[in-house]
Amino acid sequence: MLERFANKHVLVTGAAAGVGQVAAIRFAKEGADVSILDFQSAETTRAEIEKLGRRCTVYRCDVRDEQAVNETVAQAADAFAGRIDVLINNAGFNGHYNLVKDMPLNEWSETLAINLTGTMLVTRAVLPRMIAAKRGAIVSTASNVARRGLPYRADYVCSKWALLGLTQTLALENASHNIRVNAVCPGPVEGDRIEDVMAHHAKVEGKSLADVRKAWEEAAPMNRFVKPDEVANAMLFLASDESSAMTGQALNVTGGFLMT
Ligand SMILES: NC(=O)c1ccc[n+]([C@@H]2O[C@H](COP(=O)([O-])OP(=O)(O)OC[C@H]3O[C@@H](n4cnc5c(N)ncnc54)[C@H](O)[C@@H]3O)[C@@H](O)[C@H]2O)c1
Repeated sequence: MLERFANKHVLVTGAAAGVGQVAAIRFAKEGADVSILDFQSAETTRAEIEKLGRRCTVYRCDVRDEQAVNETVAQAADAFAGRIDVLINNAGFNGHYNLVKDMPLNEWSETLAINLTGTMLVTRAVLPRMIAAKRGAIVSTASNVARRGLPYRADYVCSKWALLGLTQTLALENASHNIRVNAVCPGPVEGDRIEDVMAHHAKVEGKSLADVRKAWEEAAPMNRFVKPDEVANAMLFLASDESSAMTGQALNVTGGFLMT
């Protein structure tokens, strides 16, 4: 087993479920101690990590809450003598399902607040610690829709395009501090969340769930959705020294339906 993260402290947001949960456990399998910031209970993730003999602390926190984010990041860092070696910005919300002409402002604002502003707030709180340590790696979970449009999902789409702008800007601002900042762009990921997303699309588009799934699978040359572990592979690579010459990049993990 590779131990790319031995003696590292990794902070993962949105690790109660889904991709973040799988990634947090994978970091622990490779030697990391993990802090989790999530607004849901992440006790299942914590138990899995502790079974591996690694430290794990769960902080119940909403990424939209500026003060709570600052306090949580300070507490998490203090438990490791001020260090956060890796930040995985993964907490995310699917958004709402409206055409722009019908979009209520509060729905738009909610999605941007979680996916974009929340990512900025957590990153802003972590950065001074990485700058002091003169090293760090940040990986944010964007999406295939950070590179294309998708009807009924403007709030989500725009939040994820903006994450790539934030990623490139952070990469430029922090390269001199030896901090690398990258993103992953997953295609549809097998799991509960995508079933819910497809059900919403089927409803607003007047299609069957089976037709939505078939169309989305066929959009990828590999003709399938991706697995959470396949997204975690890209996250761990971008967080590790194996990607030491990469910053400001966004890796597609889509079964091939995005090639730029
Ligand atoms: N599932 C997919 O098909 C897919 C595709 C592309 C990108 N993504 C992105 O991957 C990331 C993980 O998604 P997932 O599929 O594992 O979803 P998920 O819903 O299973 O997990 C999201 C996690 O984020 C947490 N979270 C949500 N809002 C939060 C908030 N305000 N504060 C703190 N925590 C919050 C949730 O509690 C949960 O643990 C998201 O950023 C999502 O946009 C998912």
